Amino acid sequence: RSAAQEALTRLTVDVPDWPEPGVTFKDITPVLADHHAFSAVIDALAAAGRDDHGNVAVDKVVGMEARGFILAAPVALALGIGFVPVRKAGKLPRAAHAVSYSLEYGEATLEVHRDAIAPGERVLLVDDVLATGGTVVATRELVERCGGVATGVAVLMELGFLDPRKVTGDLPVSTLLTI
Ligand code: PRP
Ligand code: MG
Repeated sequence: RSAAQEALTRLTVDVPDWPEPGVTFKDITPVLADHHAFSAVIDALAAAGRDDHGNVAVDKVVGMEARGFILAAPVALALGIGFVPVRKAGKLPRAAHAVSYSLEYGEATLEVHRDAIAPGERVLLVDDVLATGGTVVATRELVERCGGVATGVAVLMELGFLDPRKVTGDLPVSTLLTI
């Protein structure tokens, strides 16, 4: 078990019945508030953007609004490459690609600026939690609409009981913790 996994396990707070009855929310804000824990998890996520020799193997890091932003931006800095935000519908000011996906109730739309990723660029996706996989699949589609290639997704936690890898398919997933 790595220092990052230990810190994540020790500091994440389970909040029962939030935001609705029957759901246990994983509150990672105490991880972010602890400098050593935050550094350790950022380094661990950034490892997904390196090859076996430790060389940076991606061109951009994409973070998904909102919690993905908190992790993806420092991962981009750690790798020495640019950060690209994927935002919820209607927030980006310039020409954007949009992809909609279904939630348990209703639909959500994510967007990215068309020029944020250049054709052929390799892109690492970073988010806090991989649950149904819908957010990751939509984000991968946005990267591909720009002409980029999603090389993998790095998350703090994967909710294995929701079987997200059924929908993420051949996209490599690195996770610090599987619940
Ligand atoms: C949460 C979480 C992931 C997503 C995972 O985001 O931060 O982005 O759900 O779920 P999925 O794998 O089923 O798509 P959410 O949009 O709920 O909230 P946020 O804006 O706080 O990130
Ligand atoms: Mg999110």
